[in-house]
Amino acid sequence: MTANGKYYTMDHHIMNDIEVQDMEKNYELLSKEAVMHGPLEALFCCIGNPVIGNPTQLMMEAAFRAMLFPARYLTCTVTDDHVKGAIDGIKALGFTGANVTAPHKVSVIPFLDGLTESARLSGAVNCIIRRGDSYIGDNTDGKGFLTSIEVIKPVKDMNVLVIGAGGAARAIITELALHGAKEIVIANRTVEKAQQIIDRIAPHVKTKLDKDALVRPYRIKDDYDLVVQATSVGLFDPEGSLDITWEPSRKQRIAADVVFNPVRTHFLASAEAAGATPVDGLGMLVYQGAIAVSQWTGKDPDFLVMKTSLEEAFTI
Ligand code: ATR
Repeated sequence: MTANGKYYTMDHHIMNDIEVQDMEKNYELLSKEAVMHGPLEALFCCIGNPVIGNPTQLMMEAAFRAMLFPARYLTCTVTDDHVKGAIDGIKALGFTGANVTAPHKVSVIPFLDGLTESARLSGAVNCIIRRGDSYIGDNTDGKGFLTSIEVIKPVKDMNVLVIGAGGAARAIITELALHGAKEIVIANRTVEKAQQIIDRIAPHVKTKLDKDALVRPYRIKDDYDLVVQATSVGLFDPEGSLDITWEPSRKQRIAADVVFNPVRTHFLASAEAAGATPVDGLGMLVYQGAIAVSQWTGKDPDFLVMKTSLEEAFTI
């Protein structure tokens, strides 16, 4: 990666060309030393299908380089019939961690040695963490989302509307409930899927969970503190939008979209026009990656380095 604002020091000072060159030279040296004298570089991968176009590797490599953490990260296409083999391989080769993406977030579960509470309740794994000889499945999607909201306001006691009931919605609803949201209404086109999430999570949390049919047009009531667009509508489709209207509200509402490309969606534009504070999906994507890096390395990576690498990836 080149210089000119792509790397930051820990105090967020943008590195100049010479500082970047020094860092890259040091990183290369560390890699060589690891091979010759050990400990060997940590290994990571992202498994899914398709994975071409998934920028996780670029974001993770940028984070590792900026932390001077000697590591290799690969993007691997894994077909449905090789999920067990891929996990066995990750274990046999002593990988330090991995990311899991569609369509394997659920099918990897039987091959792991344990699950965190987030992964168990959401029923999906997007991050594998090595603990000794055990490989534990976690879900950092919801935690990444939570962080992107809690930098603005704690979710405790919030009234929330989540639009959508797919994998992303499930991870988000789980984390909101685990962190004390007061009430969550799940509005989905297929109402049964909203009910399935309620049945799975409700016995384990205090949050009041309810469902609603996502009719067209859908009118967003005035009493929500947080409205989350968690459907896939608009992803890679700047024209894609839900047919929604916002009731005027006196509340300081937050509106969050899980769609990260484009960053500025129709949903966020309509939310802002209605007076809500917009939170885009790019932050969630970076935070879930940053949380994974923290779990793998025990250190906090530089959020800005990771965000910049993603923004750059989307222009390639
Ligand atoms: P992800 O992992 O991105 O959440 P998913 O599990 O396939 O993807 O879920 C997609 C979500 O987007 C679902 O809530 C889906 O609604 P249905 O459960 O009714 O299918 C929602 N979705 C996709 N296209 C939609 C559309 N055109 N209008 C409304 N909701 C839509």
